Amino acid sequence: MHPIRIAPSLLAADFTRLHDEVRSVEDAGADWLHLDVMDGHFVPNLTFGPFITAAVKKCAQKPLDVHLMITDPWKYADAFLDAGADLLTFHIEVEKNGDVRELLDHIRARGVKAGLSVQPDTPVQRLQPFVDRVDLVLVMSVFAGFGGQKFMPTVLPKVQELRRLGFRGEVSMDGGIGPQTIADSARAGTNVFVAGTAVFGATDRKGRIAELRRAAMAAL
Ligand code: DX5
Ligand code: ZN
Repeated sequence: MHPIRIAPSLLAADFTRLHDEVRSVEDAGADWLHLDVMDGHFVPNLTFGPFITAAVKKCAQKPLDVHLMITDPWKYADAFLDAGADLLTFHIEVEKNGDVRELLDHIRARGVKAGLSVQPDTPVQRLQPFVDRVDLVLVMSVFAGFGGQKFMPTVLPKVQELRRLGFRGEVSMDGGIGPQTIADSARAGTNVFVAGTAVFGATDRKGRIAELRRAAMAAL
């Protein structure tokens, strides 16, 4: 059984005060910091790259969970590894652009946990060939691209399906996670909960993270 982890997504942070925001959620009890990297190609939005990731690394104490929503992770993985990613996740939907196995092995050889992510309309069976060399699967519970979207409960069965495929690593869920949705996600078998709006939008962030953690644990 993997530990319950709450991973606030910095996408919902105030970027004019990034250092304070990182400190705020770390003080509030965040386990990991989730960084959403978008290239305007794989998803219709742009965020930030290795430069901001390295800046976050300088002020962070918790592990950086870097979620690459980009078309060519083969080209940019090293830049994010150099920037200080502790987990590096890319999407299975880009598999035609390179050798997935090779990139997973490369990430792990650099001492970083490797993750694969699936969009809501991608079956987890696509991950079958890689379940033995991936540390984390990130199940998208909204279509990647924007924070603040509505949680899609239709993705919940994917967690059990992953277990049936023999995956034994950590399962993360990303998109629309909050006090109303986290219990269902936990019950399905998720252990890492990415939450942007629910954490950064709360006036009492410490209270919110505690509430999320409580709800996830109570569901087990
Ligand atoms: C969406 C991102 C998510 C997003 C979550 O493409 O991968 O991490 O920021 O935000 P909320 O929690 O607001 O749905
Ligand atoms: Zn994400």
